[in-house]
Amino acid sequence: MYQDVKNVLISEEELREKVAEMGHQITKDYDGKNPLLVTVLKGAVVFFTDLMRQIDTAAEIDFMVVSSYGSGVKSSGVVKIVKDLDTEIAGRHILIVEDILDTGVTLEYLTRILEERNPASIKIAALLDKPERRKANIKADYVGFSVPDEFVIGYGLDYDEKYRNLPFIGVLKPEVYSV
Ligand code: IMP
Ligand code: MG
Repeated sequence: MYQDVKNVLISEEELREKVAEMGHQITKDYDGKNPLLVTVLKGAVVFFTDLMRQIDTAAEIDFMVVSSYGSGVKSSGVVKIVKDLDTEIAGRHILIVEDILDTGVTLEYLTRILEERNPASIKIAALLDKPERRKANIKADYVGFSVPDEFVIGYGLDYDEKYRNLPFIGVLKPEVYSV
């Protein structure tokens, strides 16, 4: 697996430090609010499980599955809810935890749907942000790292469902997906 990685972009140590920092800020901002942490499977799952353990106040979790991409590296522009929340969110403080904010199409759509259910608030925590690629009018309230416009893998992020189990964020060798 490692031979397909061009370079390590964010190391395990850097991820650990940043996630702890984000968790501390979220703890401050949500103390006493019993937020619902909403995770978008599957890419955000590694970030989510690390982040939730750095949040030191009562919180609940729930999962959604949204599909915006085919199996490749290009956005299809199509977003659909594959699995909805189990929780009623009216009056709740929602924090959506995402792996990467790319075009923003997925999150814009998701926040629009969730807004209709009248939550008390909706915020976004994204581990990675690719600002150059933004199409939708959306920004994250908590961002881990801004990354260049390169296809990244690892720490939950996949290429064709692979490389999610890499413990760092890396850049995939272009020849892996251009063949
Ligand atoms: P958006 O709707 O374009 O913002 O797409 C967001 C989703 O696309 C993310 O949750 C990822 O699953 C996927 N994605 C975007 N860029 C990358 C990348 O560089 N590597 C892996 N997945 C990505
Ligand atoms: Mg994904």
